[in-house]
Formats: sequence, C-alpha cells, structure tokens
Amino acid sequence: MLTFTLRCIDLLATSSQISFYSQTGSEIRWDAARSVGASRQGMKLILSGLVPMAATTTVITVASWLSAQGIWNLMTRWLCSLANIGDTKTYTMLTGPSDLRSLVSNRSRLWTLVGTGITIGLWLIRPSIPYNHMTGALPFTMLGEQSRARRMTIETFPLPELLAEEYWEPANGHYKGWAPTLDDSACSRETKTNPILEVRNKTVEPRHYFYNPVHDPMRISNLDLEPLGPLQEALKDHPIPINHIVFVFLESGRKDLFPLKNDSHLYTQIRESYELFGEEDEADLHDKLSQITPVAEMLTGEQSGFGSSVNSTNSGLGGLSFDGILSGSTLSAKSRLVNYCGLGPLPVDFMHENDIIPYQPCLMHIMDLFNQRKNSSSSGNSTNGHLEREWETIYAQSVTGEFQAQTRLMDLLGFKQTLYSEDIDVEDAKYFHEDMEKTNYFGYAETEARPYIKDMIDETLRQNKRLLLSHFTSTTHHPWGTPEGWNRDQYFGDLHKSQHELMDDFLNANRFVDAWLGELMGMLDEAGIANETLTVFVGDHGQAFGEDCPVTGTYHNPHVSNFRVPLVFHHPLLPRMHLNVNGSAVSILPTILDLLVNTNSLNADDTEIALDLMNEYEGQSLIRPYRTSHNGREAWNMGVINAGGSMLSVGSAAVPWRLNLPLNNDFEYRFTDLNKDPYELEPVTGWTMGSLAAEVHFKHGPEAFDWAQKAEKVGLWWVAERKKLWHYRDPDE
Ligand SMILES: *[C@@H]1O[C@H](CO)[C@@H](O)[C@H](O)[C@H]1NC(C)=O
Ligand SMILES: *[C@@H]1O[C@H](CO)[C@@H](O)[C@H](O)[C@H]1NC(C)=O
Ligand SMILES: *[C@@H]1O[C@H](CO)[C@@H](O)[C@H](O)[C@H]1NC(C)=O
Ligand SMILES: *[C@@H]1O[C@H](CO)[C@@H](O)[C@H](O)[C@H]1NC(C)=O
Ligand SMILES: *[C@@H]1O[C@H](CO)[C@@H](O)[C@H](O)[C@H]1NC(C)=O
Ligand SMILES: *[C@@H]1O[C@H](CO)[C@@H](O)[C@H](O)[C@H]1NC(C)=O
Ligand SMILES: *[C@@H]1O[C@H](CO)[C@@H](O)[C@H](O)[C@H]1NC(C)=O
Ligand SMILES: *[C@@H]1O[C@H](CO)[C@@H](O)[C@H](O)[C@H]1NC(C)=O
Repeated sequence: MLTFTLRCIDLLATSSQISFYSQTGSEIRWDAARSVGASRQGMKLILSGLVPMAATTTVITVASWLSAQGIWNLMTRWLCSLANIGDTKTYTMLTGPSDLRSLVSNRSRLWTLVGTGITIGLWLIRPSIPYNHMTGALPFTMLGEQSRARRMTIETFPLPELLAEEYWEPANGHYKGWAPTLDDSACSRETKTNPILEVRNKTVEPRHYFYNPVHDPMRISNLDLEPLGPLQEALKDHPIPINHIVFVFLESGRKDLFPLKNDSHLYTQIRESYELFGEEDEADLHDKLSQITPVAEMLTGEQSGFGSSVNSTNSGLGGLSFDGILSGSTLSAKSRLVNYCGLGPLPVDFMHENDIIPYQPCLMHIMDLFNQRKNSSSSGNSTNGHLEREWETIYAQSVTGEFQAQTRLMDLLGFKQTLYSEDIDVEDAKYFHEDMEKTNYFGYAETEARPYIKDMIDETLRQNKRLLLSHFTSTTHHPWGTPEGWNRDQYFGDLHKSQHELMDDFLNANRFVDAWLGELMGMLDEAGIANETLTVFVGDHGQAFGEDCPVTGTYHNPHVSNFRVPLVFHHPLLPRMHLNVNGSAVSILPTILDLLVNTNSLNADDTEIALDLMNEYEGQSLIRPYRTSHNGREAWNMGVINAGGSMLSVGSAAVPWRLNLPLNNDFEYRFTDLNKDPYELEPVTGWTMGSLAAEVHFKHGPEAFDWAQKAEKVGLWWVAERKKLWHYRDPDE
C-alpha cells in the first residue's frame, strides 16, 4: 500500500513537473505550489494545467508499463552482480535458487561496477550549484525545499566611499537632509515628532524601526529642482484642480501595449507572421491592430502609427505618459505595495506583508490623516470649502479577494470600502444576474463591476466627499478569456500560428480592457468630475510570452518584458507630455503628493503635511527632472521577482545594464545591456558571480564588469535592509 501511494505521488509529481515546464518553461517549486494551492482560486490556477498534466501522466504510465519488464530485468542483473562481489553465499540466500546467476556474466558485472563507480564519483564531485538541485530526486525535493537559501548577505552598505562627509546635505525646509554613516542603516529609531509619525500612530501599532531618508545611503531627492517647464506654464495659464483621484492598476500591463505602436518589436513580430504581404493586406492588418488600444492612445497621447487611429490633438485630454518605468515587483500583491505605499516589498516568497505593518504610510493612510485633522480642527472656515471635504477611499475589482488573502492586505493598506467578486456573485447583490460569466479562474470581466463602481462614485459625490478610487483590471490575466459572445480576433498570421496562440489571446484581452477603460473614463464624465480628476494608470507588472523569451509568465522569470509597464498621470487640463525616465513605480506616491501640492489641490494644513511627507519617501518625483545619479550614487531600480524570495532584478537609471541576482542556489546570474539588446535576446548567464563577471568583461567591457559586481553587493544589501524594515526574520536564522 505504501509503495503504491509513493508510486502515485511520484507519478503525479513527475507529470506535474513536466507539464509545468512545457507550459511555462520553468520548474515547479513545491513549497510555492503548496502555498498557492492553499486557496480555492490558487487551486484553480494550478488545475488550469490539468490537461497537459493528464496527457503527460498517460504517456508516462504507458511508457512505464511497456518498459517495466525490461527495467526490472536490468535492475535485477545489476543488483545481482553487485551482491555477487562479496559473499556468494549471502547472495544465494537472498535470491534463492541460483540459476539467476547464469544471467550474470563476468563482463556485465564489470560494466555494472564501472558504471556505478562513475555515477557515485560524479555525484560526489559535482559542483554544488546548480547540480545538487538538478540531481534532487522526487519525492524528496517535495519535502526538502526550505533548506536551499543562499547564505550570502550584506548588512553594511557596500559602497562606503559614497558616504563621505563632503557629500552630506544639510536639512533645508521640508527636506530632512542626507547624512548616512556606515553604522546606520536606512531604518533607525525614530524619536522626533512629525506628520509621518502621526500617520503611523493613527494606523498602526508602535514599531521600533522606520525608514529614515536621512540615513538611507541610496537615497536621491529631486524635490529641490523646479517642476518641468510645460507643467509650470500650464499652471500659470489655468488652474488644474485635482479633487478626485482614480488609480487604475492594469493586470499584466505591458508598456508596448499601452498603446500598441507600429515601431515596436511586438508589431514586427506580428508582421513577420504573415507572408506575401500586399499593400491592401497591410492596410487591413493595420486597421485591425489600430482597434486594439485606441483608448490607450487617447490617454497617453502616443499615436499607434497605424494610420486610421485616434486624433491625438483630441481636445480635453492631457497628462504625462512615461517610457522606461519598471514595476517594483512582478508579483501583483507586492507590486501593489510599491504603488500605493512608495516602498520596497519584502524579497521573500509570498505575502508575509499581509500581516506586517508597511514601513511607510500608504496613500490611503495619508488621506485618512487629512480627514482626521479636518475633523478635529476648525472645520467651520469655508473660504476654500471644496478643499475641506473628506476623502473617501474605495477599492474595486471584479475578481476574487481571497487569493493570497488580498482582502487582508487591502484593509491593512487603509481602504475604507472594497468590492470583490465575492460581493457581486451572491444572489442578493444589487446587480446580480443569472448569466454572470467568469472569464478566468479569479472571477468576472471588469464590466460586471461597472454598476457598483458607478454607485460608489455617485454616493461619494452625494456625500460631498473627495474620491480616491482604485480599480484593478483582470481580464488580462492568464488564461486571457473574454466574455462569451465578445468578438475575438486573430492578429498573428498563419505562419507558426500555434506558437502565437497565447499572445493572440493576450492581445484580445488587451482590446477588451482598452474598451473597458474607455467606459471607466466615460463614467467620470457622466459623474461630471472628468476635468477635476487625476487618473493614474500603471501596470502591476508586465508579462513575458514565448515571443519574448523561453519562459512564459512572471514566475521565476527575470526577463525585462515582465517589468516594462505603462505609467500615465492623466488629467484633461494637464499639458500633454511624453517622457523617458528609467525609474520605477516607487516614484508614483511622491509624484501624486507633488501634483496635489503644485496644483493647489490641498488646503494649507494638508499642503504642509504633503510637503513634509513627500520628503520621506524613497522615490523621486516624476514631475521634476529625474536625477539618474548624484555625487556618484546611482538611482537604483530594484524589482522583486515572482514569487519573491528567489531573484532580484537590479538596475539603475544611470546605466543601461541589468543584473538578475539569484537569492538562492537554484537560479542563475544573468546580465543584459538594454542599449545594445533592448529585448534581452542575448543575456549573459552564469551559475556564479565569478563566471558571470568574466563573461561580462569579455562581452561588455570593464565598466560593465565593475558595475555587475557593484550591483550584486548593492542588491544583497537592499535585500537585508528590506528584511529589517519589514521586521522580517528568516525562519532558519
Ligand atoms: C568469472 O570468471 C571466472 C574465471 O574467468 C570464473 O571462475 C567465475 O566462475 C566467473 N564468475 C561468474 C559469476 O560467472
Ligand atoms: C504616537 O503615539 C505615542 C504612543 O503610542 C505617543 O506617545 C505619541 O505622542 C504619539 N505621537 C503623535 C505625533 O501623535
Ligand atoms: C509608423 O507610422 C508613422 C505614421 O504613420 C510612419 O511615419 C512611420 O514610418 C511608421 N513606422 C514604421 C516602422 O512603420
Ligand atoms: C483632430 O481633431 C481636431 C479637433 O478635434 C481637428 O481640428 C483636426 O482636424 C483633427 N485631425 C485629424 C487628422 O483628424
Ligand atoms: C469626526 O468624524 C466622525 C465621522 O467621520 C464623527 O463621528 C465625529 O463626530 C467627528 N468628530 C469631530 C470632532 O468633528
Ligand atoms: C478662515 O481662514 C481665513 C483665511 O485662511 C483666516 O483669515 C480666518 O482667520 C479663518 N477663520 C477662522 C474662524 O479660522
Ligand atoms: C470640463 O469639461 C467639460 C466637458 O465635460 C468642458 O465643457 C469644460 O470646458 C471643462 N472645463 C474646463 C475648465 O476645461
Ligand atoms: C533609458 O534606458 C534606455 C535603454 O538603456 C536608453 O536608451 C535611454 O536613453 C534611457 N533614458 C534616459 C532618460 O536615460
């Protein structure tokens, strides 16, 4: 019975591993699978691979049935000849009648011995990275996952020369100054009283360590620089009221699909999937492609170049659209923390953050602080009445809140009202209807949330409150289903059609979401708040496909396509600006505060608080010139790779290079140069930093070599520092 159970487990595990590999190009981590499978939706996510797994299981079963006798014979011979070496009597006793012995000729014994010797020898002398992982055997790997953490950690900032006193900066107004020493870390015991402490007092329990910008050796501020010219002029010209904020989080939002353009790598790939192309065909294709992201074109003011597309001089639209922004994590939940709270997530697998107070106040906490202060002080003074209104913070998505305990996180981040699929698929929900249809294992199409969102907007305005509405799109999640009856298109040509199926599904999902974003903007219009609302669009992470690299998806995949996200600050009265900043989503929160202050959208008290707070965050403001480096320190971009604790993406705005830093022994170092190879088609990889660095030196020169080594140290330090800031201890320490 026991062997039967073991065999079944082995069979299922093997076929899971093979089918997972064939689907995603990467390996299963069993500890990760256990954690994902803990929720119902996670189980569905895993079960979505059931068909290939069943196929694999069948193949293995048939193959083993056919070969079982052969293998049994072989093993018998093998074991017999081994047993024979020593005591022939023992052998006879063990196996009974000795006619088996005739099977074992002297030659076969010799070969068996030699083979066994070589196998054991190789196993003993193999380099531990990566072969101890590769030679792990099921079912043992399913049990022993935890113990593989890399021991390496760097606690002291590795570039002391950048902290020389000559570089220190004095405090000045709201700027707290910069004076780190090697003994401090970016977190320190906080004693002074300032608004940020107050926010923390309101929202959180007392804690020992806080992020301290004065002591952060990596920090670069740009708040001393003037806001960008066109913005200043627009502000002189007319008021730009921001009374409401809508924060849209685009599931798997790729920058090259916001909007899709004719000069993109993606377009070239689509174009190459057709042969014998006449002009007419091309016009047809362009026409079809121009329908995928017309709303994104309007929102960003970036034209697709497919001719028939949107008129970009379209009045009533404006805003800042960015190229070069990377998401802070390729795990959605960690990415949320970066976007809402302007901090670095915990580089550890899965969402320990659900139970830890974030080390910086999030946007919603700040709104709450504004509310509390108004509430307690002179609320009677109404010279600027509309700025005295309270904020209402709302989070809405049409998919589940159960996955990885998202509801807990959203409450922790300070949302006062929330909407998940659990609220709309019960029969007594206000807009429940029988034919509600799930588009993926997480829930419904965004459009199912429409009437609820409309109600929440209306109710907020009716109560004379200011709206902070955050919405997470969902149709662009694997497996990219769209509602039944919605007209899907085929974008790739028939050449290698099957290779492009997933990307084709994804393009369809993007077209669906693009139209939905149009509806969402329409709702703001209907509510009469379109030109007093700042709408922020950002991808939670990108999404790599077979078109980009061998591994599909974000899981354990460092490819840059998983990081390049759109970022747009849209407001009809803002000037149209298209900017290139190689920064990250950690800048969003300080930028929102900076915009609120500069557009005079806060009362005097709140303005003071916001000015103070924006100096407390790690990221620079994106409405001012971005400092790529300052006194030798670079503007680093750290990206925590799904599932969190295995790899860190390390880059910097000062250089075109990117390092994938493995955090345990199962993954490779990887180096790319985005100037020479913007789509990372030819990464340099190595199992140790030494072997990687040597090749980087050879292919990219001494500067890249130096940088890669620096990046490794800074990355390891950053990881150790996040763990301190999050009060996280590795379980095996
Ligand atoms: C192996 O060979 C030797 C002599 O060459 C012989 O005496 C012996 O019986 C052989 N052993 C087996 C197991 O056949
Ligand atoms: C924060 O709370 C602590 C006690 O938990 C209190 O001593 C301190 O005065 C409070 N600070 C502010 C700014 O309210
Ligand atoms: C893209 O479209 C623009 C405008 O239609 C055109 O000028 C440009 O040549 C096109 N670029 C490519 C690569 O087709
Ligand atoms: C774009 O729109 C503006 C006003 O809406 C109009 O004057 C202009 O002719 C349009 N341009 C094109 C190319 O359609
Ligand atoms: C503050 O607001 C809450 C409701 O938001 C209200 O119950 C309370 O009475 C207010 N307090 C003051 C001092 O205005
Ligand atoms: C109301 O605000 C004005 C200007 O901000 C100030 O002069 C006045 O003293 C305030 N009144 C009260 C009652 O706080
Ligand atoms: C606000 O939008 C409306 C259309 O919805 C437009 O007529 C009006 O001019 C806009 N207001 C400003 C200040 O631009
Ligand atoms: C951002 O990085 C890309 C790729 O390395 C480079 O081409 C571009 O010039 C950089 N932009 C800025 C503003 O530094």
